[in-house]
Amino acid sequence: MGECTLNILVTGGAGYIGSICAEVLLQRGHNVIVLDNLQEGHRAAVPAAAVFCLADLAEPTQIEKVFSSHKIDAVMHFAAEALVGKSMLVPSTFYAANVASGINLLDAMIRHGVDKIIFSSTAATYGEAKSMPITEEHAAMPINPYGKSKLTFEQILADYRAYTGLKYVVLRYFNVAGASAERGESRRDETHLIPKVLDAALGKISKMEIYGTDYPTPDGSCVRDYVHVLDIADSHIRVLEEIERLSGEVFNVATSSGYSNLEVFRTAERITGRSIAVELCARRPGDPATLVASSEKLKRALGWEGAHSSLEEIVQSAWNWRLRFPHGYRD
Ligand code: UFG
Repeated sequence: MGECTLNILVTGGAGYIGSICAEVLLQRGHNVIVLDNLQEGHRAAVPAAAVFCLADLAEPTQIEKVFSSHKIDAVMHFAAEALVGKSMLVPSTFYAANVASGINLLDAMIRHGVDKIIFSSTAATYGEAKSMPITEEHAAMPINPYGKSKLTFEQILADYRAYTGLKYVVLRYFNVAGASAERGESRRDETHLIPKVLDAALGKISKMEIYGTDYPTPDGSCVRDYVHVLDIADSHIRVLEEIERLSGEVFNVATSSGYSNLEVFRTAERITGRSIAVELCARRPGDPATLVASSEKLKRALGWEGAHSSLEEIVQSAWNWRLRFPHGYRD
């Protein structure tokens, strides 16, 4: 799609990853329309230069209004329910948000002749991986409704490609973390390792709990593959530029490097220069021991590599943002 300016609809653009993708899209000269229901997202996270539409993908009339009042060339679809643990408690919410609402979005795209979408999928589509690093050829056998809902939508996209001519690319990310100078992770109920360990460093929570030290990993804690959110944003923009060539493909966005929860904890202590109280706890249900993936396919297709994805840079950037905005977004 070359170097031209595009009008891109970013669903979930008030959330952590969506708002930072919106920021990078604007920096690269594109126009951004953010659609978000602000259930989890923050109005203050939406870049000032983006158009903001308060709308819910569960409501076709609200989507219709967005598509009929803005010229849209392509969609980046981040809006979702994304917590594995919650998905095992309230699965219906995940199928409604991640499947049914997504279909509403696709149908609005078709009605308005918008034929390009990048879909935010997840490592959770693989389930308990049999081999590491995980490649895209690995069987997708999700073990929770979150992963199942995302995989279902991937399959729906394939049907829309076959029967409506939709062009799409699926990006399955591993553990996204880090921040830009302006935007970072700020959830109302934080459950993720890196923001929580930094909350503990700031004294916002009294201690850091490490869930499980009896996993079959070198130090007994879970191992994850962390990708800097700026590298995630870069992967979306590069894929969009080449969507005619890449349509129908699924790519991992990962680094092939795994870090254990205890390594992340020690890195956070070093970078913050603070000693952080830690409690070694029981396993959290639903956590696979190790999730590390290969991004060779994305590298071959686009030359993409996680330029910012060392654990140091990820934790440092997240810490810088936390120090600048210790209360996150105020709204
Ligand atoms: N962890 C702790 N203590 C905490 C929080 C987390 O030990 O207070 C551990 C978890 O048990 C896990 C690791 O840190 O072993 C990472 O947990 P996160 O919650 O940060 O991330 P997840 O790996 O569970 O999940 C994230 C996203 C999902 C996505 C997945 C892909 O939340 O949406 O990465 O790997 F599918």
